[in-house]
Amino acid sequence: MSVAPAVGAEKVTVPGILARKSIPENSRRRITCLTAYDFPTARLLDDAGVDITLVGDSLGMVVLGYDNTLAVTTDEMLHHLRAVRRGTRRALLVADMPFGSYHVSLNESVRDAIRFIKEGGAEAVKIEGGERRMDLILRLVEAEIPVMAHIGLTPQSIHALGGFRVQGRTESAAAKLLRDARAVEHAGAFSVVLESVPRELAAEVTRELQIPTIGIGAGPDCDGQVLVFHDLVGLTQGASPKFARRYADLSSEISRAASEFCEDVRNGRFPSDAESYHLPSELRERRAATKHA
Ligand code: KIV
Repeated sequence: MSVAPAVGAEKVTVPGILARKSIPENSRRRITCLTAYDFPTARLLDDAGVDITLVGDSLGMVVLGYDNTLAVTTDEMLHHLRAVRRGTRRALLVADMPFGSYHVSLNESVRDAIRFIKEGGAEAVKIEGGERRMDLILRLVEAEIPVMAHIGLTPQSIHALGGFRVQGRTESAAAKLLRDARAVEHAGAFSVVLESVPRELAAEVTRELQIPTIGIGAGPDCDGQVLVFHDLVGLTQGASPKFARRYADLSSEISRAASEFCEDVRNGRFPSDAESYHLPSELRERRAATKHA
């Protein structure tokens, strides 16, 4: 499995992401992160210059058709992670640890995280939760596994949170978000995703932390931004959240292409003669002559 970056492109690393925070704010380039779940998408994102490719457990909803992310298994994640690994050379490759893979015991969690690194080729793992994940983050960092934390709206806690809701909107919820942010930084996370939190609060966290914040529905003041690939290109079924800007409408394009194919096949317009293979002319003539003899 080759992970060398393309010629002329510098490999994005964990220290490189961390170092972005120490660049003076006016010359700092924001970090870009997108999700991918397969080889061709990974290659396209890498060629486009995305800094971090995340194999998110959003896999469950946007690719596998589950209602939420809770059903995704470690084996499903690994299957997609390996495909993304094969298509990723420059970007830092981060794998989401799915629900259940870090909720039983610290030892089991570290073992599963090691699978993502060894079997999947990830360079870091992402886990959801703040203060309550401190012990786990410490253990993972001790095992040489870089950790991206994820706080705010954490989709694996959907039942506990009561749905997909903006977080940190009350005095106590805002104070909790700040505590979570400080805790994951203190435990050794190299970055933190802030999902669905008010812009002002995300800005405050970003100012306070020494590690980069990567926002999704957290306003423009974070150190970087992440979106789910299927939202970005208009492949998500149903309504998308308001922060998920659509940069393309691939659903319409794919529907159009599939309908046109069906029409052409039904009307005999596909394939054309130019799209067909032919016998060598000598053989064709001999066979035609035998037929007419
Ligand atoms: O699973 C995922 O895609 C994520 C991102 C939305 C951050 O966690």
